[in-house]
Amino acid sequence: LGYFTYDPGFMSTASCSSEITYLDGDAGTLLYRGYPIEQLAEHSSFLEVCYLLLNKTLPTKQELADFEYMISRHTMLHDQVQYFFRGFRRDAHPMATVVGVVGALSAFYHDDMNIHDPEQRKRSAHRLIAKMPTIAAWSYRYSVGLPFVYPRNDLSYAEDFLHLMFSVPTEPYTPDPLHVKALEVIMILHADHEQNASTSTVRLAGSSEANPFAAVAAGIASLWGPAHGGANEAVINMLRDIEKSGLPLSHWVDRAKDKNDRFRLMGFGHRVYKNYDPRAKIIRELANDILDRLPANDPNQKLFAIARELEQVALNDEYFKARNLYPNVDFYSGVIFLSMGIPVSMFTVMFALARTIGWISQWDEMMGDEESRIGRPRQLYMGAESRDYVPVNER
Ligand code: CMC
Repeated sequence: LGYFTYDPGFMSTASCSSEITYLDGDAGTLLYRGYPIEQLAEHSSFLEVCYLLLNKTLPTKQELADFEYMISRHTMLHDQVQYFFRGFRRDAHPMATVVGVVGALSAFYHDDMNIHDPEQRKRSAHRLIAKMPTIAAWSYRYSVGLPFVYPRNDLSYAEDFLHLMFSVPTEPYTPDPLHVKALEVIMILHADHEQNASTSTVRLAGSSEANPFAAVAAGIASLWGPAHGGANEAVINMLRDIEKSGLPLSHWVDRAKDKNDRFRLMGFGHRVYKNYDPRAKIIRELANDILDRLPANDPNQKLFAIARELEQVALNDEYFKARNLYPNVDFYSGVIFLSMGIPVSMFTVMFALARTIGWISQWDEMMGDEESRIGRPRQLYMGAESRDYVPVNER
């Protein structure tokens, strides 16, 4: 191959150096700026983790208060943005709406093109983190015909998101504290994951010095697919198919093992983790806490029972054991979101909401890196050799 190597799927190519997230798939370790994910999930808040990812260190009390205040100053969307939402069909998938609206922010904040100014880059990051809950929630409200409600700066980030999703102007709304806690933890767990497909997309798009909102919109598009962020939605769809079919779980597990069948168990396996995903360990406990608390007549009880049984079947199956296929974070997040009343079509949007800080921190790091260059992979050309053009009437 001459001076470059052939590496489809980037199985062994490091595309950049980074100081943000450390991930050891064999040991099942995940660190943000050196801090273990387990400690952050237990003790930190999502906005504190945002500060950490963006600014390299944990904030002092004052720095955190200033950061929270700063984010609260950017939560409003330009009034014109609502007309952008209104241009979509009501039945548009919320991910399609979010890709469009985040990309459209580039038309509203022209100063964000000053990408070589570190202060301006931070402002772009603050804007994006602050506006994402509104953008995400409005994509849902629009799809079901609920009127848009405005963010509330007296609430925490997670509380405000639940208010933006579920409150109606005619009644007071108090989010369930367990849901707030679960959301904080899930968002912390999803905040960054080094050079996955969507983050690499943000870096690649941003490497041409494109507008940061356009680069992040590209990342959101990349997240959408079921092999990446779309897996949480695919998990619930699969569980529903299993429930509807009435077939035993072994049928589905056998299908997943059959190499002539494209069916895979959604929410199992990971490119990097060949051990239990540390995030899945934390989120599994959370899912169990929430499911144990659900009333017996919850309409999704049967589905949750199937999820718990499937987890056990797969964990004890030789095929899955031999390939180190463990439940991943998406297996549990879908179950938790559903139990919180978040509709399935919003699951990948929830992932995007949390991952925004990772994308923009990685973009900021890249733009501040003197050695960074435009991303430009090579290819292994397998097409025709050079040949002469033949006029159409002679072919
Ligand atoms: N069900 C059945 N078999 C599987 C599965 C699965 N979910 N995942 C992997 N395998 C098998 C695969 O067929 C292969 O078998 P063999 O060695 O006999 O050919 C082996 O395990 C290795 O799989 P791979 O496809 O080489 O692994 P990959 O690193 O290319 O793919 C993956 C990783 C996550 C795309 C894949 O495991 C998958 O499709 N999982 C289901 C979708 C899913 O849950 N995605 C969420 C990923 S985690 C969150 C995120 O990144 O967004």
